Amino acid sequence: MATVTFNQATRTYPGVQRPAVDKLDLEVADGEFLVLVGPSGSGKSTSLRMLAGLEEVNGGRILIGDRDVTDVPPKDRDIAMVFQNYALYPHMTVAENMGFALKIAGVGKEERAQRVLNAAKLLDLVPYLGRKPKALSGGQRQRVAMGRAIVRSPQVFLMDEPLSNLDAKLRVQTRTQISSLQRRLGVTTVYVTHDQVEALTMGDRIAVLADGALQQLGTPRDLYENPRNVFVAGFIGSPAMNLFTTDVTERGVRFGTQAVAVDRETRAAGTRVTLGVRPEDITLAGATEPGLRMTVDLVEELGADGYLYGHAIIDDERVNVTARVDGRTHPKVGDTVSATPKPGRIHLFDVGSGERLNPGIDG
Ligand SMILES: Nc1ncnc2c1ncn2[C@@H]1O[C@H](COP(=O)(O)OP(=O)(O)OP(=O)(O)O)[C@@H](O)[C@H]1O
Ligand SMILES: [Mg+2]
Repeated sequence: MATVTFNQATRTYPGVQRPAVDKLDLEVADGEFLVLVGPSGSGKSTSLRMLAGLEEVNGGRILIGDRDVTDVPPKDRDIAMVFQNYALYPHMTVAENMGFALKIAGVGKEERAQRVLNAAKLLDLVPYLGRKPKALSGGQRQRVAMGRAIVRSPQVFLMDEPLSNLDAKLRVQTRTQISSLQRRLGVTTVYVTHDQVEALTMGDRIAVLADGALQQLGTPRDLYENPRNVFVAGFIGSPAMNLFTTDVTERGVRFGTQAVAVDRETRAAGTRVTLGVRPEDITLAGATEPGLRMTVDLVEELGADGYLYGHAIIDDERVNVTARVDGRTHPKVGDTVSATPKPGRIHLFDVGSGERLNPGIDG
């Protein structure tokens, strides 16, 4: 097992001006499950491929444990990678697929069989060892791909969207299996996804990337409660945090007809701020109560709770607002209601830089 360190790691593709990954600083602890998350094109796969040795590093260093692997070929890095398209060899059995890398590495037949069997036990694949991939379900194939990585007992697992080929239900199941398997094996893992729910449920810590730059690194709770900037605030959480620009006055931050008290520094920071409030941190009341007047456009009932989607007019602009509501008793489409943030649950950001202004909710 080992730590992983990106030290100012940079990748600029030939013929492209802007780096795909720009001075990435990241330390993954021994045995940690780190999730790299970000929108399409943010540099997640490039970062992972740099760590795997499949992509040239144009600046900075990459370390596995104390060893600088920046110039070490992929096969000597002691890592195993699971890709999105994990193409199994169709003419080989499950056992042969899982043992193939060991065979190439010159591991003897008996040891190979033993290691394949151990991995198959971990993955509940023992009954399928003699089958060909086409006779397996999608989830089973995915587990064979995991098995190919596990048999090698690498220092680090790298996974690039390994669940994206699976349907929604299987994705949820397999996500749980991968998490518990990783915990059991205790192998340092870097896992790439663009799905923030996957990131929140699987990661010990999450690194959020945008445009090749690290936006924030923290536990799922850190990122949820204390997003460092507007990008992370809007990206982490589903449905997304409500974000809009509003005035700051002596009395506080304007939220419709209400002024939400904020500390002196925030009041001094400017006359306009970007205000964020999560759907579950909004309280709705009758239209005559103080707050942000909004019209209900849609209510999504999800059993015990639901989400209400509406809009308000702020400074002559239409702003969409999402609020979590009780699944049974809630305002109806077309109603006008007044929204207020729960005390202490607002996030404030600089309008220009997008950086957070107020202290975190738990901190
Ligand atoms: N071989 C390449 N040559 C030039 N540009 C590339 C190459 N591979 C990737 N890029 C560019 O680098 C940037 C980062 O790509 P990368 O594949 O790392 O994104 P990603 O975060 O994995 O996205 P996705 O979620 O879509 O997989 C993108 O702008 C992409 O177009
Ligand atoms: Mg990718």
